Amino acid sequence: MSSPVVKLTGLARSFTQGDVTIEVLRGVDLEIAPGEIVALLGPSGSGKSTMLQAVGLLEGGFSGKIEIAGNDASALDGAARTVLRRDHLGFVYQFHHLLPDFTALENVMMPQLLVGTARPDAAERARALLSALGLEHRLDHRPAKLSGGEQQRVAVARALANKPQLVLADEPTGNLDEKTSDRVLGEFLELVRGQGSAALVATHNEGLAARMDRVVRLHEGRIE
Ligand SMILES: Nc1ncnc2c1ncn2[C@@H]1O[C@H](COP(=O)(O)OP(=O)(O)OP(=O)(O)O)[C@@H](O)[C@H]1O
Ligand SMILES: [Mg+2]
Repeated sequence: MSSPVVKLTGLARSFTQGDVTIEVLRGVDLEIAPGEIVALLGPSGSGKSTMLQAVGLLEGGFSGKIEIAGNDASALDGAARTVLRRDHLGFVYQFHHLLPDFTALENVMMPQLLVGTARPDAAERARALLSALGLEHRLDHRPAKLSGGEQQRVAVARALANKPQLVLADEPTGNLDEKTSDRVLGEFLELVRGQGSAALVATHNEGLAARMDRVVRLHEGRIE
């Protein structure tokens, strides 16, 4: 087997509020192979978002080991983590966090420009991704002029723009109606597979999870 895109060993995180400490993650072990799409299930409050934030190198306060594409993230400083994140990871958040002052096309170009892609190439890739998601007629719309489902598609295109080795998605279609959610997730999975990225996708939806390569469940702070 080729080396995993992500390897978690004994990942732990607790939150202290006043004199109460909640141990949310209590030693999570997980490996994801290149190109593998993994569903992360678990009830509300079980720590899915906390785990995705850890893997995304978005927050500190964790113990245990996080390796991304063979790099031990805990051994890196902030700048090196940013580079690791930029070069290997893509994110889809539950609430899309698009840049409001930029068009759909520009939102998808942005991560590419940040890694030095030439403008025309970035525009072409953004146009291709948005077209694959059925948004070829919405390229010049700002987020506020798009429907929720359309905004979510732009967020999906943005996460995939740099062909990251690993896509992290936190309830990527959580705020859409069931039919739209199924369609956007289907398109998302097809694009992720097509470009050979691996993915870790938090969801409550067993039906959607069944369409991925593997399902893991968070239970009492560990992967079952
Ligand atoms: N910054 C924080 N400070 C204190 N407690 C926190 C913090 N972030 C998360 N928690 C707690 O950690 C637990 C796990 O939260 P998390 O958001 O990871 O759950 P989740 O599985 O993503 O839930 P959901 O399915 O509702 O999104 C919750 O009990 C939450 O209250
Ligand atoms: Mg969550």
